[in-house]
Amino acid sequence: IPFLQDSVDPFSLIADELSNIASRLRAAVVSEGITFLQTTLELLHIFSIYVLEIPPTSNVCCCRCQSLPQQLDIFLRVNCKNHPCGKMFRPTIILLMATALNVQISKPASGGLVNMSELRMRLQSFAEFTEMIHVASLLHDDVLDDADTRRSVGSLNSVMGNKVIFFIEIDNDLRYVVALRRDVTNIPPRDTRGQISVLAGDFLISRAFVVLASLKNTEAASVLATSLEHLVTGEIMQMSMSADQCHSMDHYMKKTYYKAASLISNSCKSIAILTDLTEDVAMLIKGQMTYRLKGELAKRVEGHQVLIVIEFFDITGTSSSLWKGFNTDIRHVDPESSGHYIVLDIGIVTAPILYAMEEFPELHTVVDRGLDSPANVELVLEYLGKSHGIQKTRELAAKHAKLAAAAIDSLPANDDENVQRSRHALIEVTCRVINRTK
Ligand code: FPP
Ligand code: MG
Ligand code: MG
Repeated sequence: IPFLQDSVDPFSLIADELSNIASRLRAAVVSEGITFLQTTLELLHIFSIYVLEIPPTSNVCCCRCQSLPQQLDIFLRVNCKNHPCGKMFRPTIILLMATALNVQISKPASGGLVNMSELRMRLQSFAEFTEMIHVASLLHDDVLDDADTRRSVGSLNSVMGNKVIFFIEIDNDLRYVVALRRDVTNIPPRDTRGQISVLAGDFLISRAFVVLASLKNTEAASVLATSLEHLVTGEIMQMSMSADQCHSMDHYMKKTYYKAASLISNSCKSIAILTDLTEDVAMLIKGQMTYRLKGELAKRVEGHQVLIVIEFFDITGTSSSLWKGFNTDIRHVDPESSGHYIVLDIGIVTAPILYAMEEFPELHTVVDRGLDSPANVELVLEYLGKSHGIQKTRELAAKHAKLAAAAIDSLPANDDENVQRSRHALIEVTCRVINRTK
């Protein structure tokens, strides 16, 4: 995939809108005086500061850190090294996709003021919905995984028990929470921790559906509710794999689509559904693109694009925070780029190992024995090292990235600068994701 001549900073194209959405998300998790949920809501508020924060401008590493890495690396950061913060990846893709389909951010109104079109505001709600569901799924996921950390800081389930005693450390400007610690004298037992996280996730899901219901579009609601079903299905598939499924690339791809791609894919599909409802957008695309085609494109482009991101993040990283302990992941140094870690979920056989198993069938028995003993893990890593598993995974990601870029290219011709820039940004994100080594 060729790199485009002029880099586009995807984030800067929609920075104001993202900031808006971040405020709405924060407002959505703040208490409305429901006393029995008060504690949870307070936690959610703090959690929102952790997870939903976004950089105020595109030229800082994150909201709290003033270093200047490459613009796209900011956008694609797994984590700011020093501070936790949400990437808002899904809203970014959704909003870029909206502009790529010519639902413009603003149009000049009389008197020189800029009005946000009603349709654009409705599409922002999809972005809001999607991020809330994503965060809810992470809250639940950390409970299922009994994770200690999320985005470099203590996960909500690990710092919160049922009775809340915690210390909040705030930075010098009194603007950001820099640490959240539970009173060490009152750490909840492992088997009870997470209850608040589950409720917090449920609460976010409920609020997200209030946002969705406000759009009064049953078709879009049905599509998005299905993507929630997919999240759960993917997670169940992951925890109940037979040995055959464990060795199957098809099963892996399906599970990954459900777990990682369906939500964003269907959010983009919903953009297509909603745009069809308005006269002006319909006129613009009429005769050039059917609704079905739009739906397909959204699915192909976003499904694969996100698949790539997740896949790539699953296998490569430089941060030691990606090393989550022996029971969760295994670690290996990427032979192609020394110093970078490969992180693979234990028991959740991912693409590099599936390819290695194709090359070395004897690896099947090792995987079947389970990846919970250090000796077994070492053996798997040994096989992985001498196989082409990582290279083939990169090729798989590149193949899907090409499909994604081609799909964007095949959108109906449109000379508008913003439309062009957004399409450009979507392709650029895809290229960067598969080419990045950090
Ligand atoms: C992260 O996976 C988790 C997901 C992508 C989805 C988790 C889905 C559920 C828990 C189903 C419930 C869904 C809702 C909406 C409540 P990971 O554990 O592989 O990655 P990680 O490193 O980010 O933890
Ligand atoms: Mg997890
Ligand atoms: Mg998980």
